[in-house]
Amino acid sequence: MNPNVNESATAGHPSVSPLPGPAPAEAGGTVQGSPRRNFLVAFWAAAISGLVGVVPVVAGVVHLLDPILRKKSGGGTDDGFVEVASLDALPENGVPQQFTVTADFVDAWTALPNRPLGAVYLHRVPGTDEVQAFNVICPHLGCSVEYRSNDEEYYFPCHESAFKLDGSRKNSIPPRGLDSLEVAVRDGNVWVKFENFIGGREEKIPVS
Ligand code: FES
Repeated sequence: MNPNVNESATAGHPSVSPLPGPAPAEAGGTVQGSPRRNFLVAFWAAAISGLVGVVPVVAGVVHLLDPILRKKSGGGTDDGFVEVASLDALPENGVPQQFTVTADFVDAWTALPNRPLGAVYLHRVPGTDEVQAFNVICPHLGCSVEYRSNDEEYYFPCHESAFKLDGSRKNSIPPRGLDSLEVAVRDGNVWVKFENFIGGREEKIPVS
């Protein structure tokens, strides 16, 4: 008698039952497609883990570099001019007035609002809207200038040197005239491109 034949089946049409035994997986076999599924699961798990780890690092690097990537500024405008005073603040008779130059200072990791950069004398050419600007620092050894209205001159007490209203020298003690600065009058206000220059030289060389 064949054990695989169901004798209770309809006579003449015996059915065949599978032999009892362990399922393929239970027997140590592998279900078809599992290696591919396992690979995909492992792949995506690794990818997500990588993203979770990399995103904060990238964000941190961008945050650190952001001040460097941002444009450094000496304040004022992109062309380097800083608003100093109203044109109306300058007497039409040409008497120079001294002003402190301030601007927002921004470097890689520092932002300082209204930081003093230096000082200038502004001289309005009598009868015009033309303005001359001079750095108050003497080009000899760096004393600060003062204006003497009686003599109509810029005077340096350190070495008793003096300059005319147009900035030219009255004697040969300083190596050059007063350091003039670029000026622009915009909407009734005086803007100056403020710079310092190396002292003790005939040439006018900006301090870098
Ligand atoms: S520092 Fe001005 S003349 Fe010497």
